[in-house]
Amino acid sequence: MDWGADLSGDFRFSFEYYYDHIMRPFRKYVLEALALIEPLELDIVAPAHGSVLRDHPRRYVERFRELATPYLPKEQGDDKTLLIFYLSSYGNTARMAEAVCAGAEQVTGVRVSLYDLAGGEVEPFMDLIEEADGVALGSPTINGDATKPFWDLLSSLVVIDVQGKLGAAFGSYGWSGEAVEMLENRLRGLKFKVPEPGIRVKLIPTEEELAQCRAFGTRLGRILSGQVESKVIDFEYLV
Ligand SMILES: Cc1cc2nc3c(=O)[nH]c(=O)nc-3n(C[C@H](O)[C@H](O)[C@H](O)COP(=O)(O)O)c2cc1C
Repeated sequence: MDWGADLSGDFRFSFEYYYDHIMRPFRKYVLEALALIEPLELDIVAPAHGSVLRDHPRRYVERFRELATPYLPKEQGDDKTLLIFYLSSYGNTARMAEAVCAGAEQVTGVRVSLYDLAGGEVEPFMDLIEEADGVALGSPTINGDATKPFWDLLSSLVVIDVQGKLGAAFGSYGWSGEAVEMLENRLRGLKFKVPEPGIRVKLIPTEEELAQCRAFGTRLGRILSGQVESKVIDFEYLV
């Protein structure tokens, strides 16, 4: 039997799918391996499993380099990047998010971006998170849970390398307020560092609570920029 990709129907989907779901978290090693392969004269690429690539094999090597290379060059030089995502029905968590953002922006050397997840789409954020140094997630508690776009976002992150990035959570709630802790636990499960206990605000944030959110943002920024040593919060602290 012949396993050539050139005989496997349209092989492009499988090729890209394999990168996105298997190789993407190991992007760094993909680039190292490509550096070894690229100088070689290529007649055929015979991977340990999957189709044999013999029709223009160098095209596949080039495509792997494109896939494994950050899609935008880092514009911010040595600055650290913090992405803040929020969702908000009545504007309560949105106000918190703006305050966290304003606080983080006070820190020199940290570039902060604020995103509303109301559209529900998470795919466009994957590349940004892959390149970012930290994420802060702001969700209200709805029916004892964080909101769905956050679970969609977090479950998508299993295919990128997020280990050691900074993670944080905050959100408004009405009575039980589970969302923040749930998000923190999931962030830890994905191997983010969660150095600061999240902030919960009951319903509409007061001026004092917004000041706490700003201070929270500043602490996150300072941790990212290395101005304070990050401490990892023990699980016991939260129970
Ligand atoms: C449908 C619905 C379900 C809710 N469920 C909860 C809940 O289970 N626990 C809780 O603490 N608050 C709950 N709340 C209250 C919201 O968390 C609260 O109104 C919060 O301030 C909304 O923040 P936002 O303006 O950022 O959306 C619920 C609100 C709505 C509308």
